[in-house]
Formats: sequence, C-alpha cells, structure tokens
Amino acid sequence: MSQLLMTPGPTNIPIRAINKMLEAFSIHHRSKEYSLMYKKFNDNLKHVFQTKNEIITLPSSGTGGLESSILNLLNENDKVLFISVGVFGDRFKQMGELNNLDIDFLEIERGRGFYLDEVKKVLKKEHKAVIVTHNETSTAVTNDIKSLSKLVKEEDRLLIVDAVSSLGAIDIKMDEWKIDVLITGSQKSLMSPAGMCFVGLSDKAIDLCKKNKRKTYYFDYISALEYLKGDYPKNPYTPPVQLIACCLESLNMIKEEGLKNTFKRHENLAKYIRQELTKRDYEFYTHKDFYSNTLTAIKIKEENACDIQGFIKKKHNIYIATGQQDLKNKIIRIGHMGNVNKDMIDRTLNAFDDYNKKK
Ligand SMILES: Cc1ncc(COP(=O)(O)O)c(C=O)c1O
Repeated sequence: MSQLLMTPGPTNIPIRAINKMLEAFSIHHRSKEYSLMYKKFNDNLKHVFQTKNEIITLPSSGTGGLESSILNLLNENDKVLFISVGVFGDRFKQMGELNNLDIDFLEIERGRGFYLDEVKKVLKKEHKAVIVTHNETSTAVTNDIKSLSKLVKEEDRLLIVDAVSSLGAIDIKMDEWKIDVLITGSQKSLMSPAGMCFVGLSDKAIDLCKKNKRKTYYFDYISALEYLKGDYPKNPYTPPVQLIACCLESLNMIKEEGLKNTFKRHENLAKYIRQELTKRDYEFYTHKDFYSNTLTAIKIKEENACDIQGFIKKKHNIYIATGQQDLKNKIIRIGHMGNVNKDMIDRTLNAFDDYNKKK
C-alpha cells in the first residue's frame, strides 16, 4: 500500500485522477483534443473558484502564482498592505519587498488570524491593494475574507488572496465576495501533483493588468487570457498536459460530490479530528476562533514532533507534518484536505495512540 499523506499538501491523489494522467501522455498541447480538455478544465476551475471569469493556469507551484500577482498588477512604490498571520503571509510580503512595493505590514501573533478592528486601524485610503492569506498552513488558521473584503472595498482597493491551502475545500466565493485576485495550487485540495497554480481575476484586475507598467513574460496574465479565448483554448507555451488531465478528473470528482457537500465533508472531518484529539488531551496550537477545515495543528509538549512524525511514518506508513521554522519540533500539523475520509483520520489517530502506548 502506498504511503498515506496526512500533510497539508501534497495530498493523496485519487486513483481515478492518476489513471487519467497516465492516459494523457500522448496528447499534444497544440491539438484539438487538448483544447477540448483544457476548455473543460477551465470551466471546472471557474466552478470551484465561484467566478464567471476565466482562470489562468500557470506551470509553477503556488509560490509562482503569488509572485505573478505582484508582477502583473503592482508597480514599484505602489502602497500596499500585507497582512501576515504566519510563514506564508511572511513569504508573500518578502516577494513584495523584492519587487520594491511600498509596504505597510500588519503582523498578527502566531496561532490566530486577524480581527477586523486590527485591520481597520492600519488600513489607509492610499493602499492600492490588500494582500492576505486565506488559510495559513503554518499555523492552521483560517481568516475571514468575506468580512475583510467589505472593509477593503470601502475604497477602490484591490484584494489579493492566497488560497493555496483552502480553495476547493473551504468556501471562498470569488465573485460574490469581490476578490480581485485569487490564487491556489494543484497539490492540495485540488488533489493533483504539485506543479500548477491557478489564478482567478476580477474584471477590475484584468483591466489593471492591461495598463500595468511592470511587465513579465512567463507569468503574463493577459497573454494567458488571450490564449484562453474561443472554442479551442490553448496556452502561450507548453503546458503540463498530464497534470491538467489529472486535475480535470479531480475537479470532476468535486463536481460530482457537489461543492457544498465537499465543503461540508471537510468541515465535518475537521470537527471530528479536533474532537478525537481533544479526547486524547492534545491542545490545539490555533486559537479557537480561527480553526481550519483543511488542517489541524497540535502542540507537542515534549518538543519531539520530529520523533512522532518518524515513528508514524516508519510504523504506520503515514506521513504527517511537523511545524515550520521555530515551531519545527513543537507542533504537528495533520492535513485533512482533498481526497480524505474518516477512515484515513482514524488510521492517523490510531498511529498517535500507538506512539503514546510506547511511551
Ligand atoms: C498558504 C500557502 N501559501 C503558499 C504556499 C506555497 O505554495 P507552493 O509550495 O506550492 O509553492 C503554500 C504551500 O504550502 C501554502 O500553504
């Protein structure tokens, strides 16, 4: 049996999707056959993004998707507000620094998300964009994007959201919540290998991209949108055809389950794992107002998270994640997103029980 991935990405890929990937090795990216597949793929992406606009598929991991939003929409010295609640928010801000944005930074203490009042205090009329993480994977925190959007949109600002570890598992309504740029990756809730990122754009964002002074060749949104037009959409350069075939099938599975049901399954499984971990006396790293439905972080009092991870991998063939940076040995993060069910969570809990018996 292959190793069970209970990490916050990469996640387990459904066999159905793997088979589709294997069938796609002879498809050429300039053929009609590819275009028809890519059209369905794009339609399915629009469904999970909950948007009417086309979605840009880029051959890069999520990080490339995040940086591409800066390259396409923001220029040197543009004043922006970055809100960070963890490692991934920090990295996004670093990309802004490298690209010479004029940055105001709201750094939230680790383990919780932002409260709206905190944002109100620092938000300025001159901010061209507010840039934030929906689901912070380093701390298992979900932020309230719907409320943030209302605040951000009181002025003519862009809202740019990293939804790499949430989109497809936690509800995020791109059009209804007026998100301008929404970014995710293939290897998490979308149940596919790493290597693609997807970017949704509002009408306002598309307009701004067209006028933007800064240019990028590889990550050019407007060029990608041009190639998406018509009955036979294509990509500006060679796309990862096999990853698209795989991800198309995973998106078909989400459609079959129904988006609302998919969100509900994640919510139920997250509640279940929290309830079972509480019974076992684990404490959560995340503040209760911000629990995530795609991963759970627990404190490891003996600071031996790496030992536990090693034991569970060796003895149970399950891979869980430890903390990042200074949390490395202090927390464990259990991913429960995408192709996940109660049985997989029970197997993981059972592995923890086994570890605790050995103590
Ligand atoms: C919230 C978030 N943002 C960004 C990234 C970076 O994505 P990638 O590793 O695919 O480049 C990750 C990866 O775990 C993430 O969880």
